[in-house]
Amino acid sequence: MSQAKENAALAALDFVQDGMTLGLGSGSTAEIFIEHLGERVAGGLKVQGVPTSKQTAACAEENGVPLIGIDKVSRIHLTVDGADEVDPMFTLIKGGGACLLREKIIAAASDKMVVIVDESKMVEKLGKFPLPVEVDPFGVTLTAEQIYEALQKSGCQNGQTVLRQNKEGTGPLITDGGNYIVDCKCEVIPAPGETAHLLNHVPGVVEHGLFIDLSSVVIVGEPDHYRIMEIKREG
Ligand code: A5P
Repeated sequence: MSQAKENAALAALDFVQDGMTLGLGSGSTAEIFIEHLGERVAGGLKVQGVPTSKQTAACAEENGVPLIGIDKVSRIHLTVDGADEVDPMFTLIKGGGACLLREKIIAAASDKMVVIVDESKMVEKLGKFPLPVEVDPFGVTLTAEQIYEALQKSGCQNGQTVLRQNKEGTGPLITDGGNYIVDCKCEVIPAPGETAHLLNHVPGVVEHGLFIDLSSVVIVGEPDHYRIMEIKREG
């Protein structure tokens, strides 16, 4: 286990208060957070978690964190999740684990989103990590062409699209929502807002992995310490 991820995950526990409904992110860093959250729950902390993926639900169950379905909650106080890239404005690329749709629904519904990453995720410009776009399987080739055009139009250096395959290598990866993932090799995304806007208008795109103005706290773990960075957001 990476000590840097562990340090970020542990620091995020300070944002958790008794009685909270928590959005539980997906990925290895989020799972470290859930393991430690489970220890706190065993010690008497009362929280309930809304999982962003089936894998996260399984991890929470294993670690004794009580879960509640998203349609049963009226408020999510805090979401703690990882990211694939974070820029200086806390715009994120997410979806490396193919969970971006549920991650975004839950982050957008949360009062606060705390992102936990190691230093390697911090970038000046987004785009080195291929941007995941979740698409309806129907017409995926045509949708991918329109995604490419949207990326080119918004100034991305590249935009080559690749349909993500499952681990078994037997066909396209299917997300928890029953969709495909198209990974876009952008290299640089110079205007994430413009890219997001154009992607939102491509028929067949269910959601994309650009998270804009959603997180207000980023905790960067390093091998022997962590840093907490905060941006004030309206509302
Ligand atoms: C899951 O779809 C992703 O958004 C993850 O949050 C992201 O890939 C970070 O994962 P790690 O914490 O495993 O690096």
